[in-house]
Amino acid sequence: MAHLHFKHIQKQYSSTDGPVIKDFNMEVEDGEFIVLVGPSGCGKSTMLKMIAGLEDVTAGEFFMNGTKMNSIPSKDRNISMVFQNYALYPHMTVFDNIAFGLKIKKTSKQDIKEKVEDAAAVLGLTDYLHRKPQSLSGGQRQRTALGRAIVRDADLLLMDEPLSNLDAMLRIKMRKEIIQLHKRLKTTTIYVTHDQTEALTMASRIAVMNQGEMMQTGTPQAVYKSPENLFTAKFIGSPAMNIFEVFFDGSELIIGSSQIPISKSAQQMLAEQGYTQQKIYFGIRPENIHPGSLHAESFNIKVRVSELLGSEYLIDGDFEGFDIGIKANTPLQPGDNLAVSFDMSHAHYFDLNSEQRIDHF
Ligand SMILES: Nc1ncnc2c1ncn2[C@@H]1O[C@H](COP(=O)(O)OP(=O)(O)OP(=O)(O)O)[C@@H](O)[C@H]1O
Ligand SMILES: [Mg+2]
Repeated sequence: MAHLHFKHIQKQYSSTDGPVIKDFNMEVEDGEFIVLVGPSGCGKSTMLKMIAGLEDVTAGEFFMNGTKMNSIPSKDRNISMVFQNYALYPHMTVFDNIAFGLKIKKTSKQDIKEKVEDAAAVLGLTDYLHRKPQSLSGGQRQRTALGRAIVRDADLLLMDEPLSNLDAMLRIKMRKEIIQLHKRLKTTTIYVTHDQTEALTMASRIAVMNQGEMMQTGTPQAVYKSPENLFTAKFIGSPAMNIFEVFFDGSELIIGSSQIPISKSAQQMLAEQGYTQQKIYFGIRPENIHPGSLHAESFNIKVRVSELLGSEYLIDGDFEGFDIGIKANTPLQPGDNLAVSFDMSHAHYFDLNSEQRIDHF
């Protein structure tokens, strides 16, 4: 079992460069499946390495089950990790690859056999135990790497982009398998990815990171529905949320020659917080913009590109000089004009300077 508490964690690799992790604070309850998500270089792998004890913590404290872990050696932490570029031993069978950590710990032969066979059954590898990695598919190799991590019965499982080397189909399949595995084992897990779809589908709780800072933590639903800042709003959700710089005149949002009416409660909220006659960011997701005048007033959009998403099209166009993405059932031609209306009950507002969400208190 593992309860984690991070207090003001900082990491600086060299004195000449700035900190890579600036002020990481988080508490993780036993059994949670946390997904750390953020763009490349934001510090995700660095965080995992510090948790595993493979990198020193520059400042701050990290507690596991109440014990301060900062200077506890990696081997004494009872943490298992699947790396970004997992490596299997090519000359060893699947069985021996999975058993590797147990042999080092001098586990008895009988125990090793039981544990490896159990893990193989869970991971669907029973028929492959005698094979060597080069004769396995990508997904089977991936599961072997997972097997090696789970047989150790660690208190905490860390996974660093374990699916990045797999094709799209296999990734989706493995996502489900990992979630099912977690449901059975209930091992506290921190899973790292830069893929926001993976984060939304897998996490019991998401932690969004950007440039070494934690931007927001919450359930996938909460983070999607109420992003606390502009970064999270743009990063979570695909296709991305549309963001427009607008002027709030006290009752409507002015953008170019368009005037977008907003709800009474939004007017009141913006007015109460001093945004009357101010510029703000207005955000709306593509799925909340509809062709025609479903939501009263309609606005004109000039189409640039139509992209097939599968069952529908993503239309990229221009709205008053801003990029806009909307969904449509039919493709449109570049240069076409399209009337759309906004479902303002799903509008998001952000402060222009702090980029924080403007919300009811
Ligand atoms: N050993 C190191 N020495 C110096 N700088 C490092 C070291 N490892 C990572 N960095 C820097 O720290 C920052 C964060 O790197 P990190 O690997 O944690 O990012 P990441 O979020 O895992 O990115 P990715 O999604 O690309 O894997 C980057 O700017 C990187 O260049
Ligand atoms: Mg990384």
